[in-house]
Amino acid sequence: MEAITVQTKNTNPAAADFLPLQGTDYVEFYVGNAKQAAHFYKTAFGFQSLAYAGPETGMKEKVSYVIRQNKLTFVLTTPLRINNPIADHIYKHGDGVKVLALRVEDAQKAWEETISRGGRSYLEPTTKQDENGTVVMSGIHTYGDTVHLFIERNNYQGLFMPGFREWKSNYNPTETGLLYVDHCVGNVGWNQMNPWVNFYEEVMGFRNILTFDDKDISTEYSALMSKVMSNGNGYVKFPINEPAEGKKKSQVEEYLDFYNGEGVQHVAIATNDIVHTVSALQNRGVEFLTIPDSYYADVLDRVGKIDEDLAPLQKLGILIDRDEEGYLLQIFSKPLEDRPTLFFEIIQRKGAKSFGKGNFKALFEALEREQDARGNL
Ligand code: FE2
Repeated sequence: MEAITVQTKNTNPAAADFLPLQGTDYVEFYVGNAKQAAHFYKTAFGFQSLAYAGPETGMKEKVSYVIRQNKLTFVLTTPLRINNPIADHIYKHGDGVKVLALRVEDAQKAWEETISRGGRSYLEPTTKQDENGTVVMSGIHTYGDTVHLFIERNNYQGLFMPGFREWKSNYNPTETGLLYVDHCVGNVGWNQMNPWVNFYEEVMGFRNILTFDDKDISTEYSALMSKVMSNGNGYVKFPINEPAEGKKKSQVEEYLDFYNGEGVQHVAIATNDIVHTVSALQNRGVEFLTIPDSYYADVLDRVGKIDEDLAPLQKLGILIDRDEEGYLLQIFSKPLEDRPTLFFEIIQRKGAKSFGKGNFKALFEALEREQDARGNL
């Protein structure tokens, strides 16, 4: 499992960042029934109603609900009729992530810089305006049918963006402590990891900060290879997974089968109190991968002293890992759809900047139990 390498490529601090990103602006999901999905995310995860767009606001072909918790904003979008790209996306992929929207200072420049480096345009720079100001957005394609939108909203004071109105609800469930997107992981096809690593390096100016090519994991467990891509200031991190040959069918392959192609595998969401957050989520019915008690028998020998009591971590199934800079606590949900595709990770970082490599064995075994129960191993 010691196949981790730290890359030093493209780390020249003097090189100007041609695509400065201020973080994740929002994540948009294309779903079969946005009204019900919004209710689910509010109920299960503690999101609050923020904004709505649909026929009543002049958007005839689709509806979108915007929900928010701290700096975490989700947009849930459903088509109203057949014969449009959203309907086609859902037919092909089921519910899933369409847009990873990134906050920028200048959406026109972000588009020009990425297109000039080989990016494929999804949305030419477009200005939207209402009485609250202007939002400029542009976008490029990434893996599968997934896209990145660049959102410039420095001159906008409204709730979300022009075209949306406030969504007031009588139902405002207690939040669960979810803070912001820590990282978003993409699953790509066989031999496609390096081409997408090159895309993020060349088109978006990211660098490869971590690599996992677990030769010994791949012989025993449902294997994958992964490279973590980070933008210049580290606010945006996109690990890219590709399936690897193992004794059993790769978890990434199962995803590719059921998603019908490449797409977002998981969204990792930060919290400052993972025991509180995960307790609240479990009480609301969110299901997580279960970890055997044997994991906890020697985990502290591996990771050393931690601030938290072990008992609640064990009860909830929270995993622990340590790197040179500190430790992290993390847990993975079961898929959020009936298809074994998108899931969430909840993560609390206590200094560690890595991704839980020490938990791969326990995690992959937990995933395999789920795959096996679905008959996909
Ligand atoms: Fe993750």
